[in-house]
Amino acid sequence: MPDRDKQEIERLRREIRRHDVLYYSLDRPEISDREYDRLMKSLKELESRHAEWIVPDSPSQRVSGAVADKFPSVAHKSPMLSLDNVYTVEELREFHSRVLKNLGADKEVEYVVELKIDGLGVALTYEDGAFARGATRGDGKSGEDVTANLKTIRSIPLRLSADEDGIRALEARGEVYMDRKEFVALNEKRIAAGETPFANPRNAAAGSVRLLDPSITASRRLNIFVYAVGGMEPMPCKTHYEILQKLKSLGFRANPQAALCRNFDEVLRMVEKWRDKRRSLSYDVDGLVVKVNSLRFQEELGSTAKHPRWAVAYKYETEKALTEVLDIVCQVGRTGSITPVAVLRPVQVSGSTVGRATLHNEDEIRRKDIRVGDAVEIEKAGEVIPKVVRVVESPGKKRRPPFAMPENCPECGTPIYRAEGEAAWRCVNSSCPAQLKERLLHFASRNAMDIDHLGTAVVDQLVDKKTVADFSGLYSLTLEGLVSLERLAEKSGQNLLDAIARSKTAGFARLLFALGIRHVGQRAASVLARTFHSMGRLMDAGFEELEAVHEIGPAIAESLTAYFSRQTNRDEIRRLHEVGVVMAEERKGGTGRLQGKQFVLTGALEKYSRDEAKEKIQSLGGRVTSTVSNKTDYVVAGADPGSKLDKAKKLGVKILSESEFEDIVKG
Ligand code: IVH
Repeated sequence: MPDRDKQEIERLRREIRRHDVLYYSLDRPEISDREYDRLMKSLKELESRHAEWIVPDSPSQRVSGAVADKFPSVAHKSPMLSLDNVYTVEELREFHSRVLKNLGADKEVEYVVELKIDGLGVALTYEDGAFARGATRGDGKSGEDVTANLKTIRSIPLRLSADEDGIRALEARGEVYMDRKEFVALNEKRIAAGETPFANPRNAAAGSVRLLDPSITASRRLNIFVYAVGGMEPMPCKTHYEILQKLKSLGFRANPQAALCRNFDEVLRMVEKWRDKRRSLSYDVDGLVVKVNSLRFQEELGSTAKHPRWAVAYKYETEKALTEVLDIVCQVGRTGSITPVAVLRPVQVSGSTVGRATLHNEDEIRRKDIRVGDAVEIEKAGEVIPKVVRVVESPGKKRRPPFAMPENCPECGTPIYRAEGEAAWRCVNSSCPAQLKERLLHFASRNAMDIDHLGTAVVDQLVDKKTVADFSGLYSLTLEGLVSLERLAEKSGQNLLDAIARSKTAGFARLLFALGIRHVGQRAASVLARTFHSMGRLMDAGFEELEAVHEIGPAIAESLTAYFSRQTNRDEIRRLHEVGVVMAEERKGGTGRLQGKQFVLTGALEKYSRDEAKEKIQSLGGRVTSTVSNKTDYVVAGADPGSKLDKAKKLGVKILSESEFEDIVKG
C-alpha cells in the first residue's frame, strides 16, 4: 500500500520532529526514550522499503553523507560581525553612554543580556522551511560548509516548526558548544587511546564541527544555543527579545537565561549575578553579551566595519596564577595507566586552592618542556580542571634536566610499558596495589556505590595490609578489623560499616558504573540497566544485542563482552552477589528517601541536566514521569517552564524551585 506508507512516513516524521523539539530544544520531553526509539525504528523501516522517498531533512537522516575531503567555502548573506569586548564595568558604562548619545536619547534604553557561550559561531540557513546549509563563521564574510556535521546536532531542527507568522526562510545564528562533563569524558577517552587531549571545551567543539567524517561528529554530543538571526522572512519582530522567543517557537534551542533589562542598572545586576554563578553552569561561559533590545534602535546605531554599535561583550577574566613546580610524580590509575602529575606550590585559582595539576602524558610534558623547579602559569580548563598553561621563563636561572618517565611502576616495581601508538605508559600487573586502590576508590565514589567515609587513608591501609583484595572484600569487613587501622575510631568504623551495608542496595546502574568497565560511564550504565534490568541478562547478551541498544556503540559493546568473558570478573560478580549486593534494576525494600514519590520535571535547571536530575531522583527511589496528574507528588520547575507548571497549579500539586529540589535530594 504505497500510498498509505507515504502518509505513514509523513506522520512519523512530523511526530518525531515534534518530539525532537520538545526533548532537545525545549528540554520538555513528553514521551520516554523507548517510545521515541520505536517511532524512529518504524520510520527507518518504512524508508528502507521506499528509498525513493528519503529526503535529506527526514529525522532519520541526521548522520549521513560521506566523509569529505575538505569543506567548501560559503559566503554569508550578511556579514557575521564579531563583538567588541569590554573588561570592566567602567568600559561597559562607556558603551551605554555611547548608545544613548548616538540615539540622542537621554534616559533609558532596554537591553537584553545573554550568556556569552564559549564555543563556535555558526549560521544555519533554512529555505522553504527546511535546513539547507550550515556554515562556520570563518572570517565573517565566508565560512566553511559544515552542513553534514551540524545535522548530527539534535537540537538543530531539520525543519522549522509551523508558526503563525508563516516563516519559511531564515538564517539562525548561534554557538555550538560542548558540555564540560562531555569534554572531560572525551579527553579521558583520548588520553586512554593515546591521542592528544583538547585544551578546553571550545577547542573540542570547534574540532568536532570541523571533522571530515560526520559519524564521528555525531558521537561527540555537541549542542547549540541560538542567539540571533541573519535574516528572516517575513520579519514579524520588533525587538531582539521577540526574536529569541520566535526562534524558540520555530523549534530552536535558545538559552533560558537571556534576560530582558528595562534599564542599565538591571544590566549591571546581571553582570554581578553571573560573575561567580557562571561556574555552576554545565558549559563554559566567558562573559555576557549586552544587546540593545529595539530592532529600530539597532538599525539606527548600525555597525563599524567589524562590530555592531548596539551590542558589546562583557568578558569575565579567566583567572590565571603563577606558581612553581615542586615535583613531578607519577600516578597509577585504575587501569594501570601512569599519569605524570605536577606537584605545585599551592595557589588560589577561580575560587579554590590548586596544589596539583595533571600533565597528561610524557609527550605533553615534552611539548611544553615542563621541569621540576620551573615557574609556571596555571588556569582551570573548563573552569574545573587545573592545568599548566606554560612555563614562564626566568632568565639567568639554571634549569633542572628534562623530566624522564620512571622505568618501573612507582607502586609495585613492575617494568612499565608503552604500546605503539599510545601516549600512556602502563603498569601491566593487574594485581598492582595502586590499581586496586584506585578501583576501590572509584567503586566507593559518590556517583558509584556512594560509600561515604571510604577515603584514601582507609583504602591505602586496607590494601597494604591485604585485608581487602577485591570489591567483595569490602562487604566482609568487621568493626574489629576496622578499628585496628590507624586513625579510625570506633564511631567512624561503625559509620563506614553502615555505609558499606547501605551500598548493597545502590542499584544495578550504579553497580555497573562502579565496576569500572572500560568505556562504561554513568550514562552507559544507566542505559544498560534500564534495558537489561539484571546482571544475569546483561551477562548473557552478546556483542550484537549490546550494540543494538540505542546509545551503546561498538566500543562499549566490545568492552563489555571482553569484561564478562574473563573468569576473574565473573567470579568477582558472583562473590558480590553472594554477599547480597543488589544486581537488578529495582531497589529492594524501599530504602530510598524518595521511595514511591512521583516527580515531573519542567523547564531548564541550572545545575542539573534533565538526565542528571532524573538519575538523582531515581537513585533515591523516586520515579520521573512526563505528564502531571493527580498521582504526581512534585513538579520541579526550572527556568522557562512549560504548560506542565500550569497543570500542576490547577491540580494543586506541590511545585519545587531548583533550590527546594536540591534541599530534598541532599536530604
Ligand atoms: S551575538 C553581531 N550572542 O561570540 C552580534 N554572540 O565575538 C553577533 N557568542 O561571533 C553575536 N554567545 O560566536 C552573540 N549570546 C551570544 C553569544 C555570542 C557567544 C559568540 C559568537 C560571536 C562571538 C562574538
